[in-house]
Order: sequence, then C-alpha cells, then structure tokens
Amino acid sequence: MSENDRPKRAYVETYGCQMNISDGELMEGILASEGYDLVGRPEDADVILVNTCAIREHAERRVLGRVAELHRVKRGRPEVVIGVTGCMAQRMGESLLEKAPYVDMVMGPDAYRELPKRLVQIEDRRNGGPARRQGAGLAVVHLDIDENYEGLEQRRRSSVAAWVPIQRGCNHRCTYCIVPYVRGPEKNRSAEAVLDEVRTVAESGITEVTLLGQTVNSYQQGDWTFARLLRAAARTPGLRRVRFVSPHPNDVTPELVEVMAEEPSVCEHLHLPVQSGSDRTLKRMLRRHTIESYLQKVDMLRSSIPDLALTTDLIVAFPGETEEEFRETLELMRTIRYDDAFTYKYSPREGTPATRLPPDQFVDPDVAQRRLEELIRLMREIQLEINRASIGAVEEVLVERPARLAGQVMGRTRGNKAVAFPGEESWVGEYVRVQLTSTSGATFVGRAETDNMRSTA
Ligand code: 5AD
Ligand code: SF4
Repeated sequence: MSENDRPKRAYVETYGCQMNISDGELMEGILASEGYDLVGRPEDADVILVNTCAIREHAERRVLGRVAELHRVKRGRPEVVIGVTGCMAQRMGESLLEKAPYVDMVMGPDAYRELPKRLVQIEDRRNGGPARRQGAGLAVVHLDIDENYEGLEQRRRSSVAAWVPIQRGCNHRCTYCIVPYVRGPEKNRSAEAVLDEVRTVAESGITEVTLLGQTVNSYQQGDWTFARLLRAAARTPGLRRVRFVSPHPNDVTPELVEVMAEEPSVCEHLHLPVQSGSDRTLKRMLRRHTIESYLQKVDMLRSSIPDLALTTDLIVAFPGETEEEFRETLELMRTIRYDDAFTYKYSPREGTPATRLPPDQFVDPDVAQRRLEELIRLMREIQLEINRASIGAVEEVLVERPARLAGQVMGRTRGNKAVAFPGEESWVGEYVRVQLTSTSGATFVGRAETDNMRSTA
C-alpha cells in the first residue's frame, strides 16, 4: 500500500468535564466511521484534535501551551492537520487562529457532524495551491439549536462504564459561567434515543452508565421528566449501576429522590453543586437557590437515602465575596460534611456578567488563594473523618483498571470512592467485594474478600 492509500490516522486529546470527554469519544466515533485509524500518540497521526475546555482561564492557558507543543509534530510533516475543538474553540473562534497560526481548524461543539467534510475541505484547499499560508485556518463555530447529535456513533474507550449525554447546553445564566455562551441553550434528547443508547451500551456488556447533562435533572421531553427517564434507564437489563451528573439543586424533586431510593441500580452518590455558602453571593451568582432551599434538598435526600455520599462544587473569591461570606461557605461545609468537593478560585471569563462587576470588588489574588487553601484544608479534614469511619467495612467495588502499582487494581464503590487493592488485570469489569483497610483521605486501600468474592454482572 502506498503512503496515499493507507487509512488516515487521527489522534484526539481531550480536556475538561465529562461532557467534553464524551464529545471526544463522539469525534473518535465519527472519524472511525469515516475510515480513520485512531492512534494513541500525536506523533503517529495525520490529524490531531485537541478537544478543549473554557471553564477557567487556567484550563485555557494549559491547552494553549499544549497546542504549541503539538505544533512541533508538524516539523518535517507539514501536512499534519491540527484542529482545536470544544468550548475554548467555540469561545475564541477566529481569534484562536490568530493567536496560534499553526492551527488549521477551530471547531465548536455543535459542528462535530461536519468534521469529516471540513477535514476534506482543508485537504482540498491545500491541494489547490501551496500549503496553507499561516493565518488562513478554518473556523466552524456556529451554535445550532437544531443539532441533536442523533445518528452519530460514539467510540467508547471504556468497556466498564459508559457516559450517555441526555442533554446539551444550559438554560441558566450563573453570572460566572461561560457554558451557556459556548454550548448554547438547553437541548434535550428524546427519551427513546437515550434509552436505546443505554440498552445498546448494556448489551455490549457495560454494567455502569452515567447520564450526562449540564443541569441533567432539568431534563424534560414531552411526558418524560428526568425522574421517569432515570427510572427507565435504571431498569435496563444488564445494568448494575446508574449515576447522573450534574444536577441543579432546584430540580431535585421528591419524585427524583423516590426513584433514587427505590431503584437498586441507582448509586448512593450525588454530586450536587452549591458554589457558595452565602445567600448574598448565591444571589450575585444568579444561582436561583438559597442555602435554606439547598439544605432542604439535602435533608430530603438523606432521609430517603441514609448512606448517600454527597459531593459538590465550590467557588471562592467570587467578586464582592466578603470574609464573612467566605466563612459562611466554611460553615456550610461543616454543616453538610461533604464526602468530597471540587474547589475553585473564581476565574473571570470574558463576556460573562460577573466580569462587569465594579473592579474594586475583585478579590485580591492572595486572599483568594488563602481562602481556597482554607476551604480545601477543611474539606480534607472532614473527608478523612468520614472515610476513616468506613475502615473495616466491606464494599462492592467495580474494577475499572489496573492501578499504577503493579499487582493492584483500581475501582469504585457505589458511593464513587476510589479503592486500590491487590488483584489481577483480568478482574477489570467485575464486581468484587472489598474490605476497606486504610484511607489516605480521598481514596482507600483494601483487600478482596477471599471466598466467593467476584461476580460478573
Ligand atoms: N471560575 C471558577 N470556577 C468556575 N466554575 C464554573 N465557572 C467558573 C469560573 N468562572 C466551576 C463551578 C462549576 C464547575 C464545573 O466549575 O463550580 O460547577
Ligand atoms: Fe454554568 Fe450555572 Fe449552567 Fe452550571 S447551571 S453550566 S454553573 S450556567
């Protein structure tokens, strides 16, 4: 086979949230169905896609650095196509091509269907003349309310757990958040399409499914509420674990809590972003909930699901956040006692309402850093107390992969806690009863129960 006949090779590198990881798998699926070979190293690829995140400035800076680094692959192989996709691509559009002239294509999340066509277009342009001059890249960044992503096949990387997007975009306008601007308004898939996909996933032997959406529990499609969809998904033959991220507190309904409590496959874990412990800050964030209403939801959840693991997202140093208000966040942490939390310093995102707050309200970076560290310290303290109380317990662990340490495997409990324990690679995908023997704080070390310990779904 000559160089021209061999299938083209593509490499996709993804950053950011689960939705973006899922989109990365979608792009891989689209490319594979067009005959591309997927490779694991950029050096081996003809097409390199960097699938980016825009949620915080730090994430963007890292990715720009990485794209510049990947650019080196083009030395000696100028025909390589470098594409930047995802939320940062959508946010920056043409300006990304100016900033990084070696990028050939910028593509936002609603345009992935066009990926093969656009790659051909780039090739045609090149064949039609001298290699593209710097600065003449392609930007495809329209938001498309009619793009439903149906009929596109995802290439799932894991044979253990699958992510199924049920919704894209967001109808909220939290004042710090770029998501509604880069992913557009909320669009829900049809319940039939979601359930079909969940069935196909289960038939392939995967036993854990996570339903995905920006405010996943606001899902509504005809008569289908999220609670109804969750119940139907949970009853799919072959599935043993069902999860969902990320819910909005306002859409935690009694009906949803009932489904979570009643359906055995729905895991006892909820990631419920709260963002701040201060009502004034929540209001300025336009979160549309109060601490009181949030605590009510937590009470409702915990009284129906006593062993529920609860995790959250928190932002410190939102513009105007006083020391007193930050203390309220610490207080909330002490009240709720989260199992884990993703904690962030506020990062201004161009075009979002919070950036227009008076400049003197922006919190000094040193103060922001100190608040973040204080919050993390408290979170870890509580986490250690919670997890220490589980030492000695036996948990059902789904083995996900070999651990870094030879002879060990890594898996998760139903409460989504990571456990490493001695085991064999062949256990990946199996459920093992594991006694928790120690904890580092966030994760556990354990030992498989010896008799009759493993079972496949
Ligand atoms: N600055 C800091 N954190 C942010 N998040 C979203 N936007 C910002 C921002 N501008 C956090 C929120 C959200 C999580 C995905 O990222 O906590 O829940
Ligand atoms: Fe962003 Fe708020 Fe929508 Fe979450 S709910 S994606 S934080 S705007």
